[in-house]
Amino acid sequence: MTSPRTFRIKSFGCQMNVYDGERMAELLHEQGMRPVADGEDADLVVLNTCHIREKAAEKAYSDVGRLRREDGSKPLIALAGCVAQAEGEEARTRSRMIDMVVGPQAYHRLPQMVAEAAAGRPTVDTDMPAISKFDALPKRRRTGLSAFLSVQEGCDKFCTYCVVPYTRGAEISRPARDILIEAQQLVDGGAREITLLGQNVNAWSDDGFGGLASLIRTLARMDGLERIRYTTSHPVNMDDDLIAAHAEVPQLMPYLHLPVQSGSDPILRAMNRSHTVDSYLRTIDRVRAAKPDIAISGDFIVGFPGETDADFEATLRIVDAVRYASAFSFKYSPRPGTPAATMENQIPAHIMDERLQRLQARLAEHSSAFNRGTVGKTTRILIDRVGRKPGQMIGKSPWLQSVVVETDAPIGALLDVAVTGAGPNSLFGDLLTRAEAA
Ligand code: SAH
Ligand code: SF4
Ligand code: F3S
Repeated sequence: MTSPRTFRIKSFGCQMNVYDGERMAELLHEQGMRPVADGEDADLVVLNTCHIREKAAEKAYSDVGRLRREDGSKPLIALAGCVAQAEGEEARTRSRMIDMVVGPQAYHRLPQMVAEAAAGRPTVDTDMPAISKFDALPKRRRTGLSAFLSVQEGCDKFCTYCVVPYTRGAEISRPARDILIEAQQLVDGGAREITLLGQNVNAWSDDGFGGLASLIRTLARMDGLERIRYTTSHPVNMDDDLIAAHAEVPQLMPYLHLPVQSGSDPILRAMNRSHTVDSYLRTIDRVRAAKPDIAISGDFIVGFPGETDADFEATLRIVDAVRYASAFSFKYSPRPGTPAATMENQIPAHIMDERLQRLQARLAEHSSAFNRGTVGKTTRILIDRVGRKPGQMIGKSPWLQSVVVETDAPIGALLDVAVTGAGPNSLFGDLLTRAEAA
């Protein structure tokens, strides 16, 4: 096969994978390859996969199978991301269509791997080298209005259900200096909002520089950077300085994603979460004392091994206590190699289904209530897309809600609006005058 001239990257899973997908695209682009739109035929396809739940991992292989063209030929195929890391050589046993297997810490070597694969030599690289892949990546150039920036990778927490410590490796923080350089490149390339990413982003630290709060305060001084967000945080790393930053730094958006997983202490212990219901609620209280209007979001797992009706009821109670503005909830999925997969008392599917439905109904009530609570407020939105009807634009509120307004302002505008109504998926707003929005 000749060297590929076009490529397509599909990312699944978390925002860190989205970020990695962008970096791989930049890397391939720099090699002179041209990106093609989703759904179009490409010489090289990179599937940037997620291993977090069984369904996500299985999807990777069915997607590979679907890359076979009508004439029987196929593109060069790279399996990247967390399934690649977890399965390594195995992946090629499961599907001979795969030419390259590249883990999340090795993708800076993709250009050489592509050259090898084009010459008919399949390659597998799931090393987790000590030297940072970031140093080998090209400079950031054009970017969207809202950009992701990975500052921390890996996880040392070893929750008993989770594959991330195995697929992403040990917790490491990128040096502050590198992050600030990349942030400046993103702002120069058009970003007005940066979301700092990490599996445990609030565990980020740089000796001599400080923790995440110091990084946020430094970024807040960057001209042109209007909004700062960060995700995902772990409850035990929510320190006073970061909480204080929410009160002090206007650019830091009033939004906190703080997964709790369960509202029952015995289950939290079995999950090895290292926080209790009480310590979690006290953290939420501290955060709300500093920033009363903050939107709290969370992640939940129902049907962890041994979860009783009483444990599940306790989860509903913590939902009511916190009043989440938004949340993700999942049925427990046993993952090979994790301690929970071999625990006794695995929960039958029909019970998980029923619990998930009840939990999601409860979460939906709270998110509607949160959205209704914004009606009547004046707030600032960052326009990020065109609305469905002519003359409509949609922007994000500080609390990450979508707000529909009638305006001819372009994507990227920051506008002051009065929130007039709340639907199931978005809010409606009236534009305040330009003078007020200045
Ligand atoms: N580092 C983050 C996110 C990890 S993955 C954190 O600690 O919260 C995102 C979410 O997927 C987790 O918060 C958890 O709710 C869910 N998840 C992880 N492993 C899972 C599994 N085996 N089954 C079901 N959900 C899982
Ligand atoms: Fe997984 Fe727990 Fe680490 Fe989050 S903190 S990535 S859930 S092991
Ligand atoms: Fe999935 Fe890997 Fe992210 S398993 S959730 S893509 S860290």
